[in-house]
Amino acid sequence: VVTVYDVASAAGVSIASVSRALNGQPGVGRATVEKIQRVATELGWSPNDIARSLSEKTTRTIALVLPDITNPFFPELVKGVQTAADERHNTLLLANSGEDAEKFLRDLEALRRKQVDGVILISDHPDQTRVAEICAGIPVVALDRDLGDPGASVVGVDHEEGARKAVAHLIELGHRRIAHIAGPAAIEVSARRRAGWAQALEEAGLAARSELVVSGTFLEEGGFEAGLQILDRLDEFTAVFAANDLTAVGFLAACASRGVQVPHEVSLVGFDGIHLTRYTTPTLTTVAQPIFDLGHRAGELLFEAISTEDPVKVKEILPTRLVVGASSAAPRRSA
Ligand code: RIB
Repeated sequence: VVTVYDVASAAGVSIASVSRALNGQPGVGRATVEKIQRVATELGWSPNDIARSLSEKTTRTIALVLPDITNPFFPELVKGVQTAADERHNTLLLANSGEDAEKFLRDLEALRRKQVDGVILISDHPDQTRVAEICAGIPVVALDRDLGDPGASVVGVDHEEGARKAVAHLIELGHRRIAHIAGPAAIEVSARRRAGWAQALEEAGLAARSELVVSGTFLEEGGFEAGLQILDRLDEFTAVFAANDLTAVGFLAACASRGVQVPHEVSLVGFDGIHLTRYTTPTLTTVAQPIFDLGHRAGELLFEAISTEDPVKVKEILPTRLVVGASSAAPRRSA
């Protein structure tokens, strides 16, 4: 391996001059810089990140731990974090923990051993004390889901308000019997979106009865299974609010399997605003999260925390936006 010592010796200059010249720092004459760069290229020298991390006490690497890389919401989120890392010439490591609490902790411990400079967590881990122990001394930002840890900044949306907006849209269209396909109970945002659904119904003087709620999994399959249960009782509903877009996509498939027309026989609204919703038939009415901005803002907050001795913890709520597609319309029949 060619080191800075080899370059200094071959160029007849000091180690300090080589380090400054190859890191673009001032204090070395132009002619000497060009000579050092020429010798380094001839010798085949390449920056040794491990050596640099030891000298700079930073690996210029951050990590993002997310639950499900197969859900298109997360890759769009990753793009935002990746852009923030690219803007600072940092590397981004990804860990896909699934909704597996133990794997989440193992991923965290592995990232700590990699000496990452900071981590962004999307987590509903039940044992926040354990998470805080592993992350002790490492800057952490919670993204999308609140860690509940007062020590971590968090960036997300107002899930209740977004869900309330979705259901209020259906109520404005004239729907009164609105079912909800909920997210997994273990995930914090599921309860917050169900609360938003209930709030919109109660504001309209409607009962948010538990019989109107069917459990989903945040995935297409869960939306399909819950959809079949709802379609078995279709006379009780004229509309469905799905806790996320993949659930809504599964519900569309259930309707197609039963020959039920959306929105003519039942209206549908989702949550997330993933690109896929522009290409479903019908296009999906949904509550769009600013997904790229969520990721990018979390990255910026993390880099601020890394470069600040005692960073102030912040909670940033970004706005959601109702995107009206073709899946919601006035009811054609009374429930
Ligand atoms: O679609 C995945 C869901 O998990 C999204 O709604 C996002 O908010 C995350 O919590």
